[in-house]
Amino acid sequence: MNQNESAEKAASFRKDPGRDPLRFLVFSASLRTDSLNTRLARLAVRIIEKRGAIVDFAEMKEFDCPSFNQDMELEKIIPPGAEQFLKRLTSNDAFIISSPEYNASMPGHLKNVIDWVSRSRPQPFNERHGLLMSASPSMAGGNRGLWSLRIPFEHLGARVFPDMFSLAMAHQAFNPAGEIINTTLAGRFEITLEKFMDLVEAAKHYPCIKKAWIEFLGEQPGPLTERAE
Ligand SMILES: Cc1cc2nc3c(=O)[nH]c(=O)nc-3n(C[C@H](O)[C@H](O)[C@H](O)COP(=O)(O)O)c2cc1C
Repeated sequence: MNQNESAEKAASFRKDPGRDPLRFLVFSASLRTDSLNTRLARLAVRIIEKRGAIVDFAEMKEFDCPSFNQDMELEKIIPPGAEQFLKRLTSNDAFIISSPEYNASMPGHLKNVIDWVSRSRPQPFNERHGLLMSASPSMAGGNRGLWSLRIPFEHLGARVFPDMFSLAMAHQAFNPAGEIINTTLAGRFEITLEKFMDLVEAAKHYPCIKKAWIEFLGEQPGPLTERAE
Protein backbone atom coordinates (compact mmCIF):
# COMPACT_ATOMS: atom_id res chain seq x y z
CA MET A 1 0.00 0.00 0.00
CA ASN A 2 1.48 3.40 -0.92
CA GLN A 3 1.36 6.45 1.33
CA ASN A 4 -1.77 7.98 -0.29
CA GLU A 5 -3.68 4.70 -0.06
CA SER A 6 -2.77 4.25 3.58
CA ALA A 7 -3.82 7.87 4.38
CA GLU A 8 -7.17 7.31 2.60
CA LYS A 9 -7.72 4.05 4.46
CA ALA A 10 -6.96 5.74 7.78
CA ALA A 11 -9.29 8.65 6.92
CA SER A 12 -12.21 6.36 6.02
CA PHE A 13 -11.57 4.39 9.21
CA ARG A 14 -11.82 7.62 11.21
CA LYS A 15 -15.08 8.49 9.45
CA ASP A 16 -16.61 5.19 10.57
CA PRO A 17 -20.11 6.19 11.78
CA GLY A 18 -19.79 3.72 14.64
CA ARG A 19 -16.92 5.69 16.13
CA ASP A 20 -16.64 9.07 17.73
CA PRO A 21 -14.61 11.32 15.44
CA LEU A 22 -11.30 12.53 16.84
CA ARG A 23 -11.33 16.06 18.24
CA PHE A 24 -8.26 18.27 18.20
CA LEU A 25 -7.70 21.58 19.94
CA VAL A 26 -5.41 23.56 17.60
CA PHE A 27 -3.96 26.96 18.35
CA SER A 28 -1.07 29.26 17.63
CA ALA A 29 0.70 30.62 20.69
CA SER A 30 1.32 33.97 18.99
CA LEU A 31 -0.76 37.01 19.88
CA ARG A 32 0.37 38.78 16.70
CA THR A 33 -2.20 39.53 13.96
CA ASP A 34 -0.02 38.45 11.04
CA SER A 35 1.53 35.50 12.86
CA LEU A 36 3.53 32.88 10.96
CA ASN A 37 2.59 30.33 13.61
CA THR A 38 -1.10 31.06 13.07
CA ARG A 39 -0.58 30.37 9.36
CA LEU A 40 1.01 27.02 10.19
CA ALA A 41 -1.76 26.20 12.67
CA ARG A 42 -4.42 27.01 10.05
CA LEU A 43 -2.71 24.73 7.55
CA ALA A 44 -2.76 21.95 10.14
CA VAL A 45 -6.52 22.50 10.53
CA ARG A 46 -7.08 21.93 6.82
CA ILE A 47 -5.06 18.71 6.82
CA ILE A 48 -6.72 17.33 9.96
CA GLU A 49 -10.24 18.09 8.71
CA LYS A 50 -9.44 16.52 5.33
CA ARG A 51 -8.62 13.34 7.25
CA GLY A 52 -12.00 13.20 8.93
CA ALA A 53 -11.38 14.70 12.38
CA ILE A 54 -13.02 17.68 14.09
CA VAL A 55 -10.93 20.76 14.88
CA ASP A 56 -11.55 23.24 17.65
CA PHE A 57 -9.44 26.20 16.51
CA ALA A 58 -8.53 28.68 19.25
CA GLU A 59 -6.67 31.96 19.37
CA MET A 60 -4.01 32.67 21.98
CA LYS A 61 -5.82 35.81 23.07
CA GLU A 62 -8.66 33.57 24.33
CA PHE A 63 -6.17 31.91 26.72
CA ASP A 64 -4.08 34.92 27.72
CA CYS A 65 -3.88 35.40 31.51
CA PRO A 66 -2.41 37.80 34.06
CA SER A 67 0.86 36.53 35.53
CA PHE A 68 0.34 33.58 37.84
CA ASN A 69 0.09 34.63 41.45
CA GLN A 70 -0.60 32.07 44.15
CA ASP A 71 -2.36 34.72 46.26
CA MET A 72 -5.04 34.91 43.54
CA GLU A 73 -5.32 31.15 43.55
CA LEU A 74 -5.82 31.10 47.34
CA GLU A 75 -8.64 33.59 46.86
CA LYS A 76 -10.12 31.17 44.27
CA ILE A 77 -9.61 33.67 41.45
CA ILE A 78 -9.07 31.88 38.16
CA PRO A 79 -8.55 34.09 35.10
CA PRO A 80 -11.07 33.57 32.27
CA GLY A 81 -8.18 32.66 29.91
CA ALA A 82 -7.16 29.75 32.13
CA GLU A 83 -10.77 28.58 32.47
CA GLN A 84 -11.14 28.70 28.71
CA PHE A 85 -7.91 26.76 28.08
CA LEU A 86 -8.95 24.12 30.61
CA LYS A 87 -12.39 23.78 29.04
CA ARG A 88 -11.07 23.49 25.50
CA LEU A 89 -8.27 21.12 26.52
CA THR A 90 -10.58 18.71 28.28
CA SER A 91 -13.31 18.76 25.64
CA ASN A 92 -10.91 17.56 22.93
CA ASP A 93 -8.94 14.32 22.53
CA ALA A 94 -5.59 16.01 21.95
CA PHE A 95 -3.94 19.39 21.46
CA ILE A 96 -1.68 20.85 18.79
CA ILE A 97 0.27 24.06 19.43
CA SER A 98 2.26 26.08 16.95
CA SER A 99 4.50 28.23 19.12
CA PRO A 100 6.90 31.07 18.36
CA GLU A 101 10.39 30.84 19.82
CA TYR A 102 11.33 33.79 22.02
CA ASN A 103 14.98 33.95 23.04
CA ALA A 104 15.50 30.22 22.48
CA SER A 105 12.54 29.34 24.66
CA MET A 106 8.75 29.40 24.73
CA PRO A 107 6.77 32.67 24.95
CA GLY A 108 6.16 33.72 28.55
CA HIS A 109 2.39 34.03 28.04
CA LEU A 110 2.20 30.36 26.98
CA LYS A 111 4.14 29.12 30.03
CA ASN A 112 1.96 31.36 32.18
CA VAL A 113 -1.33 29.79 31.07
CA ILE A 114 0.17 26.29 31.39
CA ASP A 115 1.04 27.17 35.01
CA TRP A 116 -2.48 28.41 35.70
CA VAL A 117 -4.16 25.35 34.19
CA SER A 118 -1.74 22.93 35.86
CA ARG A 119 -3.30 23.88 39.21
CA SER A 120 -6.65 22.39 38.25
CA ARG A 121 -7.60 18.94 39.60
CA PRO A 122 -7.60 16.38 38.15
CA GLN A 123 -4.42 17.75 36.60
CA PRO A 124 -5.61 18.12 32.98
CA PHE A 125 -2.37 17.62 31.06
CA ASN A 126 -1.81 14.18 32.54
CA GLU A 127 -2.04 11.51 29.80
CA ARG A 128 -3.21 14.09 27.26
CA HIS A 129 -1.64 13.76 23.82
CA GLY A 130 0.01 16.83 22.30
CA LEU A 131 1.90 17.75 19.16
CA LEU A 132 4.28 20.71 19.10
CA MET A 133 5.17 22.77 16.05
CA SER A 134 6.79 26.12 15.37
CA ALA A 135 7.45 28.64 12.63
CA SER A 136 10.16 31.29 12.55
CA PRO A 137 11.99 33.40 9.99
CA SER A 138 15.22 31.88 11.34
CA MET A 139 17.03 28.88 9.89
CA ALA A 140 16.13 26.70 12.91
CA GLY A 141 12.41 27.41 12.58
CA GLY A 142 11.92 28.00 16.31
CA ASN A 143 12.80 24.40 17.18
CA ARG A 144 14.73 25.29 20.36
CA GLY A 145 11.58 26.84 21.77
CA LEU A 146 9.78 23.51 21.34
CA TRP A 147 12.42 21.67 23.37
CA SER A 148 11.82 24.08 26.21
CA LEU A 149 8.05 23.72 25.80
CA ARG A 150 8.33 19.95 26.13
CA ILE A 151 9.67 20.33 29.68
CA PRO A 152 6.53 21.58 31.48
CA PHE A 153 4.30 19.29 29.40
CA GLU A 154 6.43 16.19 30.05
CA HIS A 155 6.61 17.15 33.72
CA LEU A 156 2.82 17.30 33.84
CA GLY A 157 2.48 13.86 32.27
CA ALA A 158 1.35 14.96 28.81
CA ARG A 159 2.07 12.48 26.03
CA VAL A 160 4.12 14.83 23.87
CA PHE A 161 4.52 13.34 20.40
CA PRO A 162 8.21 12.50 19.75
CA ASP A 163 8.20 14.12 16.30
CA MET A 164 7.93 17.89 16.18
CA PHE A 165 7.66 20.14 13.14
CA SER A 166 9.57 23.42 12.79
CA LEU A 167 9.18 25.57 9.70
CA ALA A 168 12.39 27.49 8.97
CA MET A 169 12.39 30.78 7.01
CA ALA A 170 8.65 30.77 7.53
CA HIS A 171 8.25 34.32 6.19
CA GLN A 172 9.08 32.90 2.72
CA ALA A 173 7.66 29.41 3.15
CA PHE A 174 3.96 29.85 2.31
CA ASN A 175 2.23 30.43 -1.03
CA PRO A 176 -0.78 32.80 -1.22
CA ALA A 177 -3.11 29.83 -0.58
CA GLY A 178 -1.42 29.27 2.79
CA GLU A 179 0.33 26.04 1.74
CA ILE A 180 3.99 25.21 2.29
CA ILE A 181 5.78 25.84 -1.02
CA ASN A 182 8.56 23.29 -0.57
CA THR A 183 6.95 19.96 -1.46
CA THR A 184 9.31 17.85 0.67
CA LEU A 185 8.55 19.95 3.73
CA ALA A 186 4.83 19.99 2.93
CA GLY A 187 4.88 16.17 2.74
CA ARG A 188 6.74 15.92 6.03
CA PHE A 189 4.23 18.21 7.68
CA GLU A 190 1.30 16.06 6.51
CA ILE A 191 2.98 12.83 7.59
CA THR A 192 3.76 14.24 11.06
CA LEU A 193 0.10 15.20 11.49
CA GLU A 194 -1.13 11.85 10.15
CA LYS A 195 1.09 9.84 12.48
CA PHE A 196 -0.03 11.94 15.42
CA MET A 197 -3.67 11.38 14.43
CA ASP A 198 -3.04 7.63 14.29
CA LEU A 199 -1.64 7.67 17.80
CA VAL A 200 -4.56 9.69 19.16
CA GLU A 201 -6.95 7.32 17.38
CA ALA A 202 -5.28 4.34 19.07
CA ALA A 203 -5.29 6.03 22.48
CA LYS A 204 -8.96 6.95 22.16
CA HIS A 205 -10.30 3.66 20.87
CA TYR A 206 -7.81 1.14 22.24
CA PRO A 207 -6.92 2.27 25.75
CA CYS A 208 -4.86 -0.30 27.64
CA ILE A 209 -2.52 0.58 30.50
CA LYS A 210 -3.37 3.44 32.85
CA LYS A 211 -0.62 4.83 35.05
CA ALA A 212 -0.67 7.20 38.01
CA TRP A 213 1.04 10.55 37.52
CA ILE A 214 3.79 11.18 40.07
CA GLU A 215 6.58 13.71 40.13
CA PHE A 216 9.45 11.52 41.37
CA LEU A 217 10.02 7.79 41.26
CA GLY A 218 9.16 6.34 44.64
CA GLU A 219 6.72 9.12 45.46
CA GLN A 220 3.37 7.77 46.59
CA PRO A 221 0.23 9.51 45.34
CA GLY A 222 -1.67 11.01 48.26
CA PRO A 223 -3.19 14.20 49.59
CA LEU A 224 0.11 15.29 51.17
CA THR A 225 2.11 15.16 47.92
CA GLU A 226 0.24 18.12 46.60
CA ARG A 227 0.89 17.92 42.87
CA ALA A 228 0.69 14.16 42.52
CA GLU A 229 -2.48 12.30 41.76
C1 LIG B 1 11.12 38.77 22.08
C2 LIG B 1 11.44 37.99 20.83
C3 LIG B 1 12.42 37.02 20.86
C4 LIG B 1 12.67 36.27 19.72
N1 LIG B 1 13.58 35.25 19.79
C5 LIG B 1 13.71 34.39 18.74
C6 LIG B 1 14.53 33.23 18.85
O1 LIG B 1 15.15 32.95 19.85
N2 LIG B 1 14.58 32.39 17.79
C7 LIG B 1 13.87 32.63 16.64
O2 LIG B 1 13.92 31.82 15.73
N3 LIG B 1 13.13 33.74 16.50
C8 LIG B 1 13.02 34.62 17.52
N4 LIG B 1 12.22 35.71 17.41
C9 LIG B 1 11.60 35.99 16.13
C10 LIG B 1 10.28 35.27 16.00
O3 LIG B 1 10.54 33.95 15.61
C11 LIG B 1 9.45 35.96 14.93
O4 LIG B 1 9.11 37.26 15.39
C12 LIG B 1 8.21 35.17 14.60
O5 LIG B 1 7.60 35.74 13.47
C13 LIG B 1 7.26 35.13 15.79
O6 LIG B 1 6.21 34.25 15.53
P1 LIG B 1 4.79 34.76 14.96
O7 LIG B 1 5.03 35.24 13.56
O8 LIG B 1 3.94 33.55 14.98
O9 LIG B 1 4.30 35.87 15.84
C14 LIG B 1 11.97 36.51 18.52
C15 LIG B 1 11.00 37.52 18.50
C16 LIG B 1 10.72 38.24 19.64
C17 LIG B 1 9.63 39.28 19.61
